[in-house]
Amino acid sequence: MSTIFRAITPDELTAFVNTSSIGFGESNAWFEREVPWVSSSLERTIAGFEGDAVVSTSRNYPFEMTVPGGASLHVAGVSAVAVLPTHRRRGLLREMMTRLLVDAVEHEEPVSILTASEASIYGRFGYGASVLAGSVSIAKHAVTFSRPRPAGRLRLIDVDEAGKVEPEVFERLRRVSPGAVSRPELWWHHHYEPSFGTRFDALYESPSGSVDGYVTYSVRDKWTAAGAAHSLAIRELIGCTPDAVHALWRYLTEIDLVQTIVAHSIPLDSPLTWLLTSLRAAQINNIHDNLWARLLDVPTALGARTYAVPGRLVLAIDDPVRPGEAADGAFALDGGPDGATVARVGDDPDLVCDVAVASTAWLGGVRWSQLAVAGLVDERTPGALSTADAMFASTPLPYGYTWF
Ligand SMILES: CC(C)(COP(=O)(O)OP(=O)(O)OC[C@H]1O[C@@H](n2cnc3c(N)ncnc32)[C@H](O)[C@@H]1OP(=O)(O)O)[C@@H](O)C(=O)NCCC(=O)NCCS
Repeated sequence: MSTIFRAITPDELTAFVNTSSIGFGESNAWFEREVPWVSSSLERTIAGFEGDAVVSTSRNYPFEMTVPGGASLHVAGVSAVAVLPTHRRRGLLREMMTRLLVDAVEHEEPVSILTASEASIYGRFGYGASVLAGSVSIAKHAVTFSRPRPAGRLRLIDVDEAGKVEPEVFERLRRVSPGAVSRPELWWHHHYEPSFGTRFDALYESPSGSVDGYVTYSVRDKWTAAGAAHSLAIRELIGCTPDAVHALWRYLTEIDLVQTIVAHSIPLDSPLTWLLTSLRAAQINNIHDNLWARLLDVPTALGARTYAVPGRLVLAIDDPVRPGEAADGAFALDGGPDGATVARVGDDPDLVCDVAVASTAWLGGVRWSQLAVAGLVDERTPGALSTADAMFASTPLPYGYTWF
């Protein structure tokens, strides 16, 4: 039977989420939470139908993303990508991705982004792992801090208060954090999975009473003959000021009965290790792809950000997935700390690469020279890689914050 691709109607939402949850091998609890989150902008879903049956799912969410320099860019967030196990490796994903990219362009979104279940899937569609993150594991007994405790106070809050306060604090941080994406109101209802265990939320208030940060975490209790050996998992730690970040890490490491603390994703430039007397007490490991980006309109995407130092580069970008479109060709970038202009030019490039590689380097999370050493960038003008490294560098490093 041939597959028809189209957006779903509201009465097909349950079937859509059901197929998606089978595809991801998820639980019923996941399904319950996913339905409201998926229910927005249904016209941006793309599902594969065989008769009335939904055999594959995908969609775009309209997000805003902060780029280096602080501007906000409209981007398409690809999500709910799944194909029933009975229908895999017949090209359904390829068809949906082709349509999702067209949908993003039609909505004037110059970049498509996603968080990936597997790192091997999306390079072929022009995506690059533009934001990297690490995991951290803290041996609590080994932790001491090198600086005095920041002033201010910590306050435990319930889920209702967290629902009111945390979105505002997150929004403050997200607006100044490259790589961070906006969170629609519905996102907040779906992000904490019951399988994580009991949820706790703590706020950090500065001495002047400003709520500058929060942490959401779960604790799993474990009692042994030798006493308690609880483990604590950080779901999200958001600090808008250095004191907030310090105070929240400190709070977590001082919770009694907890032996180990883990966070599955933290920014690679997190100050955590430098807050401690011994940097080995917090091991940052498991460096992984945090956010994938796919340039669709190079002049708009590269022109939206600022550059650490002034410079000019001609980039020749090959987009085999969308030849002749706005991410394919040679582009002259004239950029600096005040902004940038990007124009299509004839050839004579300084650097040559594939669109997935340009997408990887776009936010400054991965250096051009590192990609060149891997054979992914061809330096045609000597010194162009150093110029590109210096221009694209981002402080802080980009970080995605939001799984979607
Ligand atoms: C990943 C998934 C959506 C792929 O769907 P699919 O319809 O089988 O993919 P297609 O047949 O369109 O494959 C397109 C290409 O991607 C490749 N591909 C597909 N899934 C892949 C995977 N998991 N790893 C590596 N390559 C993969 C195919 O080999 C094919 O490559 P080719 O064009 O070079 O021949 C499907 O396996 C799935 O539902 N997985 C579980 C849910 C999931 O992980 N979704 C992604 C969320 S980010």
